[in-house]
Amino acid sequence: MLAATADSIRATGARVEAVAGDVSRRDDVPESGRAVRPSRRAVQVAGIADFLPFLDVTDESWERILGVNLKGTWYLVQEAGRAMVNAGTRGAIVVTSSTNAFSRRPEAFATTRRSPGQVAVMHTAALELSRHGIRVNAIAPGIINTRSRGL
Ligand SMILES: NC(=O)c1ccc[n+]([C@@H]2O[C@H](COP(=O)([O-])OP(=O)(O)OC[C@H]3O[C@@H](n4cnc5c(N)ncnc54)[C@H](O)[C@@H]3O)[C@@H](O)[C@H]2O)c1
Repeated sequence: MLAATADSIRATGARVEAVAGDVSRRDDVPESGRAVRPSRRAVQVAGIADFLPFLDVTDESWERILGVNLKGTWYLVQEAGRAMVNAGTRGAIVVTSSTNAFSRRPEAFATTRRSPGQVAVMHTAALELSRHGIRVNAIAPGIINTRSRGL
């Protein structure tokens, strides 16, 4: 599926590097950092969610969501930023947060608890990496019917 997705992006004329890994594992992410060096772009988009009532959220859900979405964001931005700084590349990094970084909805605690942290990672990295000519921004989608919503 990863190869097919990369091929479909290449078919549009865009350049893309496909690297398999689990973004919640620090050891898997440096490969992504190496891949961004020639292309000068890195986008954090991997994410998961659950939609549980607040009283039903478990420790396992808390750890899993924060591991993939928040730690994954930190690892990707740090590794991509490090690779760009070391290569002297004036690149761009984009984080995928959520409108729930700024507003709250019932049964959306998964995204509520990680989205503000992703914005904080983006802000801090943007302030520090701008001196190397690297831009760090975030997008905040609203609700879109995709697999992460069980659709
Ligand atoms: N769909 C929405 O309503 C919505 C709203 C706001 C933000 N977002 C964010 O947008 C991004 C894309 O979500 P989507 O709705 O397209 O979901 P999706 O399930 O279609 O895509 C998420 C992708 O992340 C990958 N992924 C999941 N865990 C991973 C891991 N540990 N390591 C590497 N890859 C992993 C999955 O394989 C999948 O390809 C996510 O970060 C999500 O939090 C989605």
